[in-house]
Amino acid sequence: MRDRLVEHGLMGVWIPKEFGGGGGGVLDLCLVVEEISRACGGMGVMFAVNALGSFPIILGGTDAQKRKYLPEIASGRKLIAFGLSERGAGSDAGGLSTRAVVADGHVTIDGDKKWTTNGGAADIYSVFAVSDPESRSRRISGVIVEKGDPGFEIGRAEDKMGIRCVPVVELHFRGCRVPADRILGGERGLGFKHAMMTLDCARPGVAAQAVGLAQGALEYALVYAQGRQQFGAPISSFQMIQQMFADMATKVEAARQLVYAAARSIDAGASNTSKLAAQAKLFATDVAMEVTTNAVQILGGYGYMRDYPVEKYMRDAKITQIYEGTNQVQRLVVARALLKETLALDHLKAYMPLPDHPNTQRDRERAGK
Ligand code: CAA
Repeated sequence: MRDRLVEHGLMGVWIPKEFGGGGGGVLDLCLVVEEISRACGGMGVMFAVNALGSFPIILGGTDAQKRKYLPEIASGRKLIAFGLSERGAGSDAGGLSTRAVVADGHVTIDGDKKWTTNGGAADIYSVFAVSDPESRSRRISGVIVEKGDPGFEIGRAEDKMGIRCVPVVELHFRGCRVPADRILGGERGLGFKHAMMTLDCARPGVAAQAVGLAQGALEYALVYAQGRQQFGAPISSFQMIQQMFADMATKVEAARQLVYAAARSIDAGASNTSKLAAQAKLFATDVAMEVTTNAVQILGGYGYMRDYPVEKYMRDAKITQIYEGTNQVQRLVVARALLKETLALDHLKAYMPLPDHPNTQRDRERAGK
């Protein structure tokens, strides 16, 4: 698979041309992820995680870091992974306990990472650790770790419900010592911001994976329903099935357009893309879960069995609602952004009396005025 992607020049479509990539940005990344995931969600994330791992370098790396690592990723010679989550720090990404001590021109990392997709297969890792425990807003730094660095080991591979073809592992750092010029951006304390900016760019990729999975399952169910005979007719001729197809296809298309809109807005350099990226991720992945579940339903007893791949689409879809921020976290991001945007709507406040002020007609009537 990796060889095919390299052969077709797809490995670094999102990486700027000056660093050996295709220069296509997030929309191109999404188009490739969607198409791969239409056939296999596991392969889709294997590909997409290279974007997740490389965005910290693209967005926050020094020029030297970009020149050293990005061309290798763009050419497909090396894979990159992203080490943020820990046993105790999933949704609460700021609650990391892995430590990075900077001294004598080196960074020494101690701790463990959990659920690292592509771990073991990757050669480069964007790792986030606490470098300044006393600091409030500059607690975390990003560090580039390479396979073979002393004190860095790949741990247990997870036994997963879906995306079974791609490794998801633990990472262990035991006095892992790397040169200080591997600190992302060459400066301590920028790690949390770099991680959040990365997720803003990468979440449309997960959303595209979800669109691809939903589309793949829908196509499978459409073909099946035209061949499957019950009550003397193909089940595709029954209106209950047709209604399911119409709703499934409409939701997939709505999700696709939202994902493309989010990707285009990031590529256009819009200032605040967190909300749109989160909306695309939560909508598309919820649609994927619904559509793949309905595809299993249309195949009935056969759908539940491993004889057909629709149950795999459903299992693969589930993780898209969880990784790169659960959909609960996406809703939190959207709601926070909405409330912040509303602060700018001063002109509405004049027409919006607060409930404890008897300003509305009804309040005045109640108060007998
Ligand atoms: N861009 C830039 N800066 C940002 C930002 C963004 N999108 N979001 C937050 N920040 C900044 C804030 O401005 C704030 O800065 P100051 O301290 O200077 O004020 C700082 O970061 C802290 O922000 P918050 O107070 O909003 O942070 P929080 O602790 O409340 O967390 C959160 C916010 C949205 C819940 C965040 O923790 C989050 O996204 N959690 C989910 C983590 C996640 O997605 N993990 C996925 C792991 S990767 C994975 O799953 C890979 C895989 O296997 C494929």
